[in-house]
Amino acid sequence: MASLNPYGKFNEVDQERLLARPKTKKRIAIIALSSIVLAAIVVGAVLGTSHGNNKSSKNGDVQSISTSVKAVCDGTLYPSTCYTTLAPLVQNLTQVNPEQLFKLSVQLAINELLRASQKFSQNEGVFGNVTDPIYVAALENCRVLFDLALDHLNNSLSSTVSLVNAIDDFTTWLSTAGTCQQTCIDGFQNAPLQTSVESSLRNSTELTSIGLAIIRPGASTKIRVKWKGLKLNLGNKDASKFTVKQFINGNKWIPSNVPYNPSL
Ligand SMILES: *[C@@H]1O[C@H](CO)[C@@H](O)[C@H](O)[C@H]1NC(C)=O
Ligand SMILES: *[C@@H]1O[C@H](CO)[C@@H](O)[C@H](O)[C@H]1NC(C)=O
Ligand SMILES: *[C@@H]1O[C@H](CO)[C@@H](O)[C@H](O)[C@H]1NC(C)=O
Ligand SMILES: *[C@@H]1O[C@H](CO)[C@@H](O)[C@H](O)[C@H]1NC(C)=O
Repeated sequence: MASLNPYGKFNEVDQERLLARPKTKKRIAIIALSSIVLAAIVVGAVLGTSHGNNKSSKNGDVQSISTSVKAVCDGTLYPSTCYTTLAPLVQNLTQVNPEQLFKLSVQLAINELLRASQKFSQNEGVFGNVTDPIYVAALENCRVLFDLALDHLNNSLSSTVSLVNAIDDFTTWLSTAGTCQQTCIDGFQNAPLQTSVESSLRNSTELTSIGLAIIRPGASTKIRVKWKGLKLNLGNKDASKFTVKQFINGNKWIPSNVPYNPSL
């Protein structure tokens, strides 16, 4: 049984054409290496499907698409959210690769975060009646964090560099976006609003995590630990330190620049 190539872009024909050009050899090596990384998650999808010769069978394609999506989603922390949101979006395609699923999950994360951020908007949001200065400050922090998170998510959608050639950048964008959202949530620890804030951001945080897990199979658990471990003091006096400037400082902001207390 021949194996299904999960990446439409990197089929044998393309490989041969590209390999024929010496200048692109290094690039091919990078692509090949990155493909191996990405391939790890779709290994399950390879089993039980055959290569290219089931075009006549629409059913077979549908089945292999959903098997591929399921295999990718099983590598995430939220397999059921992943599958139920992504599978319907690719059901009509004849082929799907992790990069497409990644882009879709990022696009959905953006949509959900935009939706959630409306709830946090000043005055008109559902948190508009909050008067406790601690939480007024925490809400303001969330608005700043959402903008940062959206920028980083948007970077990974608008990047002209392909995923496989810049996996570290994409990882940084996604984990930063996740950290921003988690940091917003952390500002409401033990607060009456905590549950409400968490549930407002559940979809966007899950989709961000899913996007990350798609490009970094096996990394999602570590990333989750990192998100949880990020500790910013948003109490009275510390809230003022937590400004846009602090985040914008250094144009390559990464989570490790943020005060971090490993003991918590
Ligand atoms: C898939 O095809 C069906 C039937 O043509 C259509 O109703 C549906 O909207 C399509 N779904 C997507 C995600 O394009
Ligand atoms: C704000 O209003 C919502 C209903 O819109 C209510 O459930 C919540 O308890 C209120 N919060 C405060 C702090 O008054
Ligand atoms: C994302 O970036 C594009 C261009 O790169 C821009 O047009 C768009 O407004 C940005 N969207 C958000 C939500 O920032
Ligand atoms: C999260 O997504 C589900 C499914 O799309 C939707 O029903 C729910 O309203 C969303 N939750 C929020 C807080 O937007």
